[in-house]
Amino acid sequence: MSFFSYICKLNVQKNDFIIMGVTKHIKKLFKSSTNAKDKILVTGGLGYIGSHTVVELIEAGYEICIVDNLSNSNIDVLKGIEKITGVKPIYENIDCTDYVAMNKFLAKNEGIRAVIHFAASKAVGESVEKPLMYYRNNVVSLINILELMPIHKIEGIVFSSSCTVYGQPEVLPVTESAPLQKALSPYGNTKQICEDIVRDTVAANPSVKSILLRYFNPIGAHPSALIGELPNGVPNNLLPFIAQTAAGVRKKLKVFGNDYNTPDGSCIRDYINVVDLAKAHIAAMRRILGGEVEAVETYNVGTGRGLSVLEILNAFETVNDVKVPHEIVGRRAGDIEQVWADPTYANKMLKWKAEETLEDTVRSIWKWQLHLAEQEEDKETTKGSKMLSGS
Ligand SMILES: NC(=O)c1ccc[n+]([C@@H]2O[C@H](COP(=O)([O-])OP(=O)(O)OC[C@H]3O[C@@H](n4cnc5c(N)ncnc54)[C@H](O)[C@@H]3O)[C@@H](O)[C@H]2O)c1
Repeated sequence: MSFFSYICKLNVQKNDFIIMGVTKHIKKLFKSSTNAKDKILVTGGLGYIGSHTVVELIEAGYEICIVDNLSNSNIDVLKGIEKITGVKPIYENIDCTDYVAMNKFLAKNEGIRAVIHFAASKAVGESVEKPLMYYRNNVVSLINILELMPIHKIEGIVFSSSCTVYGQPEVLPVTESAPLQKALSPYGNTKQICEDIVRDTVAANPSVKSILLRYFNPIGAHPSALIGELPNGVPNNLLPFIAQTAAGVRKKLKVFGNDYNTPDGSCIRDYINVVDLAKAHIAAMRRILGGEVEAVETYNVGTGRGLSVLEILNAFETVNDVKVPHEIVGRRAGDIEQVWADPTYANKMLKWKAEETLEDTVRSIWKWQLHLAEQEEDKETTKGSKMLSGS
């Protein structure tokens, strides 16, 4: 081989190597930039968990479209999202049970790669009084989305399920393989039915992938206090009730039962910071869009730590230096004694872990409560000045 051809060969090899390296780099860049620009539909995206997830998605670089019928939220949440992220996501007031409107929305916003489906009614007590409303809203919404997914080439769906599917587990912490128990309410039943609907649909449609996230008890608010939980009327959940009682909106918190078989006698739950929960959705989305999901995967989204009602109450009072008037009353029908998650599977497969401390979490709740009180005051002042000026 002549020296010239030797050099040429070397150069070709070297160039090949460079080209290969460059191609790999471009591919990587291309992949990450496509991922960064992936368009995601978030149903119920102005709700409690939805809004925190939208913030995390935007911060992770996704392009977001929201549909929410505002049945349990407020258009101001959109402003909160915009203030935190500097981005105003596409939003339309659409009811997911309206197939035609959903179809139109998806046609208008073509290129959506995946859906996170939060939109549902969630009050256990109300579901007992209005079961058909719950079955219609929660089940029909999901069916519409699943039917529309292949039409609009949407590849994946993350579905909001709940630890209520486990009832009172026999073994704690509870893993995803624990047997499901008969639901205690129509709301709980909609979660079990919806999980089955997703599994059956994916089995019949291999082009659709899904992750079912079984949430434990989400609490807390965004550290900015610009978004948080907006309880409608008397709060159903413990933490908003505690915060409202500390603020004087409610007189007294009722602790239902101190005679359970737990160290301090009150019920135990796995309370997870809503920002941690939101981040689990980003991890799930990456897994779906990265082509890592074979069909349907189910994950517990919890901290792995059980805390009693009295422990939470004590943490809230100590960290925020406030008093929460409370009394112990009898057990409440339908309450499960204790449940907390084994999140090992989610930690491993989603490469996700709950990280927020209990102290920061209860601090965020109080900050959010004070923000809500300030907003109320502002509204009252505006109303008062309007009346004075006769407008
Ligand atoms: N918060 C919890 O403790 C908890 C626990 C387990 C599972 N989940 C599930 O997580 C999801 C989100 O819960 P959340 O706490 O954010 O509730 P949320 O009520 O704050 O949010 C739900 C949002 O969906 C909207 N919505 C309801 N029905 C709709 C419809 N038909 N079309 C369009 N929008 C609709 C509501 O206006 C609301 O903004 C729900 O599916 C809920 O069942 C919640």
